[in-house]
Amino acid sequence: MIFEQLKPKVETIISNNSKSVDERLLAICQLLEQHIEYYNWVGFYFRNGNKEELVLGPYVGEPTDHTVIPFGKGICGQVAVSNENFVVPDVSSQDNYIACSITVKAEIVIPIFVNGKNIGQIDIDSNTPDPFTEADERFLEFVCKNVSEIL
Ligand code: SME
Repeated sequence: MIFEQLKPKVETIISNNSKSVDERLLAICQLLEQHIEYYNWVGFYFRNGNKEELVLGPYVGEPTDHTVIPFGKGICGQVAVSNENFVVPDVSSQDNYIACSITVKAEIVIPIFVNGKNIGQIDIDSNTPDPFTEADERFLEFVCKNVSEIL
């Protein structure tokens, strides 16, 4: 199972204190995008201080215009408010969705908690319809927990 192989690699990246936090987050994005074929855009959004908006952090994939997302807007903005995983098998069925690319068919967003507070999220777009399972959720929760340790 690819996720079990990736977990120690995630831990190795996160524990590399010789790199900056953003360098390590980018390395996580690259690892996931390279090894999981249906992960086509992988990025982090973080809460902008005390403002009710998300700001784009490190990512891999096509550049996006959506570098700032207000709380409540799109899949990402909804997760900022709900504090819950959001799995979207078919983005065309969502009313509150911000399209970044016409090739995207599905999306998964998992919140990141530091001291119980939702401070950001990992966001993954897929060009494959309905690709995500509970195994993706569990794996990405593992990634977010590791990431939270260096924030
Ligand atoms: N689709 C997201 C916006 C971010 S892009 O996927 C990079 C959303 O609806 O919040």
